[in-house]
Amino acid sequence: SPSDPDLVERARRAKEKLGDKVFVLGHHYQRDEVIQFADVTGDSFKLARDAAARPEAEYIVFCGVHFMAESADILTSDAQKVVLPDLAAGCSMADMATAEQVAECWDVLTEAGIAEQVVPVSYMNSSADIKAFTGKHGGTICTSSNAKRALDWAFEQGEKVLFLPDQHLGRNTAVRDMGMSLDDCVVYNPHKPNGGLTADELRAAKMILWRGHCSVHGRFSLDSVNDVRERIPGVNVLVHPECKHEVVAAADYVGSTEYIIKALEAAPAGSKWAIGTELNLVRRLANRFAPEGKEIVFLDKTVCFCSTMNRIDLPHLVWALESLAEGNLVNRIEVDKETEAFAKLALERMLALP
Ligand code: 13P
Ligand code: SF4
Repeated sequence: SPSDPDLVERARRAKEKLGDKVFVLGHHYQRDEVIQFADVTGDSFKLARDAAARPEAEYIVFCGVHFMAESADILTSDAQKVVLPDLAAGCSMADMATAEQVAECWDVLTEAGIAEQVVPVSYMNSSADIKAFTGKHGGTICTSSNAKRALDWAFEQGEKVLFLPDQHLGRNTAVRDMGMSLDDCVVYNPHKPNGGLTADELRAAKMILWRGHCSVHGRFSLDSVNDVRERIPGVNVLVHPECKHEVVAAADYVGSTEYIIKALEAAPAGSKWAIGTELNLVRRLANRFAPEGKEIVFLDKTVCFCSTMNRIDLPHLVWALESLAEGNLVNRIEVDKETEAFAKLALERMLALP
């Protein structure tokens, strides 16, 4: 839907007034009305790097969700202030692993006598606390574009991996990209005593998967893949690795949001695609590639937007930019020093992956 012209003009003016002092980052799942003001767009990996590459910007306005703004704060200098236009833009997956739960899990692994063999690998989609836990215990962060490289690295450091908080990305990477079997993976449920696992099960596992998932990607089903294949003969099914294993196993291609965009750029005219990722991105891609004769549909019509990503709308962005232009620092995201130091260690291990 077209954006309110008055708000567009206000955002433009506030941004112009701020000049180089502000740098606006936009995740691919953001609304079009917000994306039009992003200086760069990207997936969570690209944005983490881009935030660090702008030391002259006093304000980093992060159009995305809370954990991304935290990561930007960790990777930028103290003089740079990261702003999240709506503080309610969280991530349900990141909320599925709290510092207390993860500390308790480590006790369970210690009890089972395996903590020393375990390397934590945490998905970018986690709180700064979880990233700090990861750094403290010798682990690394990963995103959906480098999960295999992160796991390769982790299995050089230890015999087992504790993968947080997205069980699907962990399982899909282990089974699809690393040649492990489903039996090599166990799921640790933070709501059950000892994670719902016996010490023997923990000792036998190679991948200990945290019981978290994405509330958007987790809703695509095997039925949606079968249905679209029936409806559109010759369709290529391309899904994000946060989808369930059975969906990923039935798809033709699997990859991060940046991968999805590149695959569609390279696709020949006349090709047909069903995409299993967030709806804002799929709609934008469908519009962008329609003139080139590429037919792009959303994998499952019953799945909808990421509601927390969508909290960042044009009114919130205008408010944040105008406040900054008037000298009022609003909605700053600031990670405390100790958490930051350990979280940074984990993030830097990721950035140094081959
Ligand atoms: P990527 O941006 O790493 O593809 O992750 C998708 C996602 O769910 C972000 O919230
Ligand atoms: Fe979190 Fe999923 Fe939304 Fe990404 S799409 S912010 S993982 S709930």
